[in-house]
This record gives sequence, structure tokens and C-alpha cells, in this order.
Amino acid sequence: MTGPLVEVHDLAKTFEVSAPWLERAIARKPRLFVYAVDGVSFAVERGQTLALVGESGCGKSTVARLLLGLHRPTRGRVVFDGQDCGAARAGAEQRALRRRMQMIFQDPYASLNPRWKVEDIIGEPLREHGLAAGGTELAERVAALLLSVGLAAADGARFAHQFSGGQRQRISIARALATQPEFLVCDEPTSALDVSVQAQVLNLMKDLQRERGLTYLFISHNLAVVRHVADAVGVMYLGRLVELAPKRQVFAAPRHPYTRMLLDAIPDIHLSGRARTPVQGEVPNPLAPPSGCAFHPRCPHAQARCAAERPEWLECDGGLVACHAVQEGRI
Ligand SMILES: Nc1ncnc2c1ncn2[C@@H]1O[C@H](COP(=O)(O)OP(=O)(O)OP(=O)(O)O)[C@@H](O)[C@H]1O
Ligand code: SF4
Ligand SMILES: [Mg+2]
Repeated sequence: MTGPLVEVHDLAKTFEVSAPWLERAIARKPRLFVYAVDGVSFAVERGQTLALVGESGCGKSTVARLLLGLHRPTRGRVVFDGQDCGAARAGAEQRALRRRMQMIFQDPYASLNPRWKVEDIIGEPLREHGLAAGGTELAERVAALLLSVGLAAADGARFAHQFSGGQRQRISIARALATQPEFLVCDEPTSALDVSVQAQVLNLMKDLQRERGLTYLFISHNLAVVRHVADAVGVMYLGRLVELAPKRQVFAAPRHPYTRMLLDAIPDIHLSGRARTPVQGEVPNPLAPPSGCAFHPRCPHAQARCAAERPEWLECDGGLVACHAVQEGRI
């Protein structure tokens, strides 16, 4: 097959967060909506990793859930291997899609039942999708999965609560791999782990990607982690993608002022003596996002047009950026 494995076209998700009807009627309160994801488009190439970054609440997890069909999009569509996922959200087609894309969550303490045996945790998707003929085959498959993530076959007989955070995340990865998926959505998979353990889990994920040709959507607010794992980077701000480019370009020559602000805040790994600038300002209230370019209240390059007009996507040195100042050649 050619073309990207995953494509997302103008994806949007709005949540209603209004007070209950009666309370609203009495107090004459308006209905309230959060535009959690508002017109996001990107593609993930086969065997590659697209990282999504941005501050808390910008919509990263909502994108992840939309991709996996855990939320129904308000607008837009997800295309997986050429197939429209919205059209295939029922019956056998949906089951096949569910088998081919899996998710790894942030917190392996919350996402694994501590009282289940590891062999049951990993074996469950195999049983659910009818991927093992009998008990012996199931046990063999589980053992092979445990070995592939650096655990021992005998670990299957132990309970999840007997493992450390890093080991639990290995169990989550083994479970996600059980159905032999092509696409893994990883939502902050290492941010609950100690720094030393993070690197081991990230390296395991990279090795598995190479061996199995996996495609990743990797969500993280940690740019040092993103630099380690990504091929391409999408930067989100208040539900919108503001820059999308190959990793090298994002780190060496970021275009969008928000990307620059995020990068300026990370420690300088080249020790060039460049001063670190903390991220300026706060994320606006998502219930009342700023007009035009939502970043304008925090942007050092903002002009009148920025508050009035939403910037369009612009092709820029092989990447995409949505910024009036870039379009006008001011930066
Ligand atoms: N089920 C929901 N109902 C109402 N609002 C929601 C729901 N899920 C998310 N939101 C809102 O949508 C916005 C985006 O949330 P999301 O969890 O996708 O952000 P995020 O980028 O993953 O943040 P974080 O880095 O903190 O995980 C937030 O304002 C959040 O409060
Ligand atoms: S559009 Fe204007 S406010 Fe938004 S990032 Fe560009 S210069 Fe800043
Ligand atoms: Mg999240």
C-alpha cells in the first residue's frame, strides 16, 4: 500500500458543558460549549511517528479518542488505510479497525486492573478478537508478547499490582500489541514514570516500531521526549493545529511564535549558554477562546489583524504554519 496510514481531515469535537436546563432557564444562563478540537488535519506516514504537542487542555487527548472512535466527531473525518472510519463504525468492519489500532495510556496504574493476572490482561484482546485457537496457543502468544517487551514468560502468572510503573507500562504495550495492530496511539505513555525508566520504555517503543513497522501517534507535552521519538511534529493550541512540520525543522527552525515559545522554555541541551525563557502567559479560558488567532493575547508579534482574522494554513519550507506574521514576512 502507498499513501499515509492515517489521515485526519478537518476534525472537530465540541462538548456541551452547560448548566442543567432548569438552572439555565431560571438564571438566564446561555448554553456553553468547549471547542476541544476545532478543524485539525494531518497525516501519519506508515512506519513513522507523528508527535502532537501543546499545553494542557489544547485537545491532544480528544484527537486521540477521535482517532480510535471513542468519541464521535462533531465535524470532519478519520481515514485509516484508505478507509473512512466514520462509515465503518459498526459490525465486522469496526471490529477489524479496532484490531488494527490500539492505544497506550498515560497512567499504567489506572489503566490496568491490579487484581488481574498479567496473562489475563494480555490474553483478553486475543480472546475478544478470536486470535488464539485454544488455551495452549493463547499461553504461547502471551509468553511471546511478554518476551517481546522485555519481561519473562513466568510474569504472566503474577498480578499487575506486583509490578513497578515501568513494568506495568511494558504490560500495557504487550496488551496493545496482542492484536498485531499497525497503528498505536500513545497518550503521554511515559510521563507518569521516573526519568530513568522513561528512556527504557521509549527505547523499547522505538525497537518495536522498527521490528514491526508500527506507526505511532505520540502525544506528549515534553519536547525532549518528542525530539527523541518523532519524525514529524504537530503543535496544538486551543483545539487547533498551528504548526506541522518534520521534526528537524520544528526544532532547528520553528516558524510559529507559539512553537518558538515552547522551545525557548526547554533546557538548552547543547549548553550554548543561551538563556531559557519560561513560557509566557496562561492558556485562555477554553469556554471563551480569543478571536482570530487564539494565541494573539500572548504573542509578541500580534497586530490588529491577528485579533480579527483566523490565520489560514500556509506551506512553509516543507511544513505548514498558521500565522499572519509568517505570511506577511514579518518573522
Ligand atoms: N468529555 C468532555 N466533556 C467536556 N469537556 C471536555 C471533555 N473532554 C475534554 N474536554 C475539554 O476539552 C479540552 C481539551 O481536552 P483534552 O483532554 O483533549 O486536552 P489535552 O491536550 O489532552 O490536555 P492534557 O495535556 O491536560 O492531557 C479541555 O478544555 C477539556 O476540559
Ligand atoms: S497570527 Fe498573529 S497572534 Fe497569531 S501567532 Fe501569528 S503573529 Fe502571533
Ligand atoms: Mg490529555
